[in-house]
Amino acid sequence: MNLDDMYRDTILDHNQNPRNRGHLERPNKTVGMLNPTCGDQIELELLVADDKVVDIRFAGQGCSISMASASMMTEAVKGKTVEEALALARDFKGFLTGTKAVQELGDLEALQGVSQFPSRVKCATLAHNALEKALTHDVKG
Ligand code: FES
Repeated sequence: MNLDDMYRDTILDHNQNPRNRGHLERPNKTVGMLNPTCGDQIELELLVADDKVVDIRFAGQGCSISMASASMMTEAVKGKTVEEALALARDFKGFLTGTKAVQELGDLEALQGVSQFPSRVKCATLAHNALEKALTHDVKG
């Protein structure tokens, strides 16, 4: 299996078995984010305590790239500190726009091919933009 096939399988797996899709019983941060180019949207619910992302869920409608990316992102940030989660969002966006080398992004690295298609970068970063908004604005659950 070559790298492209492996990446495709990873994206497919997150689409077919999305991680952390649904709702939290008691989120304390909730945000919605729209991709203006297509109208797709995502909602994120987080439980943040002691400066950590204790739990996270996503819901919404979008293309397979946006939903796979949301699934990967929630898996990657759960249990991380707020600072680490924000760093991950920044690194991932830098990775897709070519301003940062790949580093420790886990399954998110499977979205590397998206960087060649600027309109799809918006799909792949939708959940990460929502995460940044949730963690940097005073949004309530
Ligand atoms: Fe709408 Fe990808 S086409 S998020």
